[in-house]
Amino acid sequence: MPSPPLTVFLTVIFLSLLAGAVPAVQCWRPWPNQKPNSTDLIFGGSKKYEGSSEFVNLRYHMGPVLTANITVYPIWYGVWQNSQKRIIREFINSISAVDSKPPSVSGWWKTVQQYTDQTGANISRHVILGEEKNDRFYSHGKSLTRLSIQSVIKSSVTARTKPLPINPKSGVYLLLTSQDVYVQDFCNNVCGFHYFTFPSIVGYTLPYAWVGNSAKLCPGVCAYPFAVPAYIPGLKPVQPPNGDIGVDGMISVIGHEIAELSTNPLVNAWYAGQDPVFPVEIADLCEGIYGTGGGGSYTGQMLNGADGATYNMNGIRRRFLLQWVWNNQLNYCTGPNALDH
Ligand SMILES: *[C@@H]1O[C@H](CO)[C@@H](O)[C@H](O)[C@H]1NC(C)=O
Ligand SMILES: *[C@@H]1O[C@H](CO)[C@@H](O)[C@H](O)[C@H]1NC(C)=O
Ligand SMILES: *[C@@H]1O[C@H](CO)[C@@H](O)[C@H](O)[C@H]1NC(C)=O
Repeated sequence: MPSPPLTVFLTVIFLSLLAGAVPAVQCWRPWPNQKPNSTDLIFGGSKKYEGSSEFVNLRYHMGPVLTANITVYPIWYGVWQNSQKRIIREFINSISAVDSKPPSVSGWWKTVQQYTDQTGANISRHVILGEEKNDRFYSHGKSLTRLSIQSVIKSSVTARTKPLPINPKSGVYLLLTSQDVYVQDFCNNVCGFHYFTFPSIVGYTLPYAWVGNSAKLCPGVCAYPFAVPAYIPGLKPVQPPNGDIGVDGMISVIGHEIAELSTNPLVNAWYAGQDPVFPVEIADLCEGIYGTGGGGSYTGQMLNGADGATYNMNGIRRRFLLQWVWNNQLNYCTGPNALDH
């Protein structure tokens, strides 16, 4: 459920560098039109596809999913530049844009739309940018806990001037914290997470997600591969498509959380694993996979712009790097930039 940092993969790279070995690739898809080689044989058979595994048993647990037009309400906590807000707004608007050049963010969302509720209704194809709230003066301080996050959301929906609408059925309250804000577990275990508010604190059950700008605290962890951890010698960062390491790194985490929140808003719908306290959701299964061949420590095949930027899909006026999500019909991770589409 939380979007974990890439420490796991990076540790694999690091240990491999120490051992002078090729990084362990757990899941492998051969490039289209290429003859299988020894790597394919070692990791072949049932593990041929990104993230695929006979052990993944993603199931529907009968709870609601977001089938009506989804409205995202950004809450800008701390100091945000307009240029940064624009990147994130245009990403959200790109999710259901009809005319982006393929491979597109809207193509990525099609995999999310495959998920349904008990009645067979699909996840909405419309994701709309709703009202926004600024919390410029850090109403609950520069260090937030999971509980104080709910108080920030409460302040936004009960503000005296222009409160955010109450939309428990199809609202996504997206708390975005600036680079000088620490949130419980940030950098150690998570780069973002989603959950729902408690009526006892907020007055309503509202699905929400938090994503932090890691530029100052841990870009090598949460904005990978636009920054790399200092403990890995020789690993070079790639250039972000919108010129902002922290915000470009947030895009993939925001996509991860919106995809999971839509398919599991009350944490009783789509997830794998036995334990509802630690549900493994549709984006968790594809963490760190951005293209064909991805898995283990390898991001997979991404795209390179003429300007040197690395990305894997197009949105409105911009390019983004966004992790893939689990395709439950094919039983592996898919994305619009897959080489065999
Ligand atoms: C096998 O194929 C992969 C993917 O094309 C390539 O990265 C790897 O170097 C190849 N290994 C050998 C031994 O040819
Ligand atoms: C859902 O969103 C679409 C696109 O913005 C709009 O055309 C449609 O009227 C909306 N439906 C409802 C029920 O609000
Ligand atoms: C709705 O979900 C079903 C079942 O997963 C799928 O076959 C269908 O393609 C989905 N429709 C859309 C518009 O995504």
